[in-house]
Amino acid sequence: MASIHYPTQRRPRDAFAESPIQTLRRDHDMIRKLADKFFNGHSLDVRHQAAEQLLRAVYTHSRLEESVFYPGVRKIEPNLVAHFEEEHLNVDDMLAVLQDMHLGEARADGLMRDMIEALLAHIREEEEELFPMLELANLDLSAIALEMQMFEANLVHMQARFGKLGVRH
Ligand SMILES: [Fe+2]
Ligand SMILES: [Fe+2]
Repeated sequence: MASIHYPTQRRPRDAFAESPIQTLRRDHDMIRKLADKFFNGHSLDVRHQAAEQLLRAVYTHSRLEESVFYPGVRKIEPNLVAHFEEEHLNVDDMLAVLQDMHLGEARADGLMRDMIEALLAHIREEEEELFPMLELANLDLSAIALEMQMFEANLVHMQARFGKLGVRH
């Protein structure tokens, strides 16, 4: 399995000024970009590389939301957060299967497409249903922002665990 270094420099220098929602939207944009690269990459190599990066990005993004963001906003929108957690489980099930597959297999390609479809629908729901509600509520999310920064600072330690994640060539 190719070892991929997780891009820890993906945040801008003024990331500490970012609201949690801005941070998550940035992750979503990266996920959409990688999904597009997977679907439209000009070579198999490019598509496979995008798939690996996407799996890692989704994994870390989901852990960040589940560990910090969702608990932080759960009391405001408990049903919506519970619904999103269920959607994470669905995507995680597909990730778990994908990590033991060869991307060259037709089955892996189909599963990857299913996973991306579920994922894109999920992040769209977060952006259209949860984020605007939080923004309208005008809450102070600075404590959550700080916790998210700390969580991301631990990525180095988490990388050891992510080592097992990724589709084989
Ligand atoms: Fe999510
Ligand atoms: Fe998200």
